[in-house]
Amino acid sequence: MADAADLPPLTAAAVQALLRTRSVGRVLHVLPQVDSTNRAALDLAQAGAPDGTVVVAEEQTAGRGRLGRSWHSPPGENLYCSILLRRLAPPERLANWLSWIPLVSGLAVLRTVESLTTLQPSLKWPNDVFVGSRKVGGVLCESSGIGTPAAAVVVGLGVNVNVSRETFPLELQAIATSLAAETGHRIDRVALLAELLREIETRFEFLLSDRPALVRDEYSRVCATIGRQVLVRLATGETLQGLADSIDADGGLRLIQEGSGQLMTVRAGDVVHLR
Ligand code: BTN
Repeated sequence: MADAADLPPLTAAAVQALLRTRSVGRVLHVLPQVDSTNRAALDLAQAGAPDGTVVVAEEQTAGRGRLGRSWHSPPGENLYCSILLRRLAPPERLANWLSWIPLVSGLAVLRTVESLTTLQPSLKWPNDVFVGSRKVGGVLCESSGIGTPAAAVVVGLGVNVNVSRETFPLELQAIATSLAAETGHRIDRVALLAELLREIETRFEFLLSDRPALVRDEYSRVCATIGRQVLVRLATGETLQGLADSIDADGGLRLIQEGSGQLMTVRAGDVVHLR
């Protein structure tokens, strides 16, 4: 494995030197430690920070995951990044746009991993990035002031980059991995972040220009959930089981329920691939 010393430190100057975006990451805060980059980005939104502002931290002390979980965020090895969006879709398309943002963000992480490694990642609906049967990255979107002129969406991205599997908490060891663990070498986080921000910007522009049908096709091609028998835990605690059939026009998961054969759409939940 390459030494940590061979890789450039994660600084704003190093990232911006590689940045090929118009607005995303042009304002970039790289913090040594923060409770949650999403929390920090939401605060910056309140203070009037511009569209495309990015907050990155070397360590999070209270990293947030989906469905109220926490995100394991040890120092110096991974990517913890939040992007502030202020340019939202117009009111008549806002709900559809909001529902696609997390899925498109997962797609951006996946494409970035593909372009910097030889790995073949896949997505577990809605936005978990997997290598083989282990999770390598996740997305948590949060918003504030939707429906007001101060509306803002924060897209939080966590990628396990160079952390070694043995250092994961026990409950994660069998289900999580990192890019370094999968490739056998350490990955340059500066190059990874610059490419990720480019992917994000391109894909968000595309979504804003109202082409969700194309996004849906691309997403469906890399979503490993489609065609699988799945168990879905809903936020209510209820569970559903069935065959994941397809993605609907709003990014929801269409499920053919076991037993009844009834087709239903899941909007939010935690999916387990059964077979
Ligand atoms: C998930 O549960 O899969 C989503 C994880 C999202 C983690 C990222 S790390 C950067 C950003 N800040 C947070 O507090 N969470 C997100």
